[in-house]
Amino acid sequence: MALQTPVSDATAPLFSSELISPEVLKALPEGYTCRPIQRQDYHNGFLDVLRVLTTVGDISEEAWNERYTWISTHNDSYFLIAILDNSSRIVGTGALVVERKFIHQLGLVGHIEDIAVAKDQQGKKLGLRIIQALDFVAEKVGCYKTILDCSEANEGFYVKCGFKRAGLEMAHYY
Ligand code: ACO
Repeated sequence: MALQTPVSDATAPLFSSELISPEVLKALPEGYTCRPIQRQDYHNGFLDVLRVLTTVGDISEEAWNERYTWISTHNDSYFLIAILDNSSRIVGTGALVVERKFIHQLGLVGHIEDIAVAKDQQGKKLGLRIIQALDFVAEKVGCYKTILDCSEANEGFYVKCGFKRAGLEMAHYY
């Protein structure tokens, strides 16, 4: 039988909580909070929130743990955050992946990925707070810019978050 994950490990933040913007924490609705994800978020609705965005699949706790362990060993590059409501359910999430380049004097570029807000929580500025929180991390860790891909339908949201259209996305699927 698999050993149980120790509680301290299950509730340890993926990265330093000092990278969570105090302004974002203040601006959230009463009782809501924003924090780095934790291993135990498998049980807090993290994957369900992502299902608002796209297909997630059937992920066992073992598979989650394996991926979480990999991500946590790269926690200077993978910054995943969660917004929790007043009953500690995850209602929003987003990720910043930091790419290390040779160009631009060994520049760091932030990639914003997998932004999702639970259907019944949309329109409360939680999406905006997630982007602000990820922008805060990007600036703190030294990114010179942050970029993202989105559908035309979401362009207006990102414009409201301060982004502007730049370039064109192309894809090769395997
Ligand atoms: N088009 C235009 N404006 C929008 C849109 C949109 N699709 N969505 C929100 N806005 C506006 C809001 O009206 C609000 O404007 P206001 O300041 O004038 O009131 C502002 O943007 C901020 O909106 P929020 O309330 O923060 O948005 P919400 O919490 O609902 O989150 C999100 C927006 C993340 C797009 C949410 O609707 C969602 O989870 N959608 C499904 C998943 C998805 O498409 N995620 C983005 C994928 S792209 C990526 O991950 C890089």
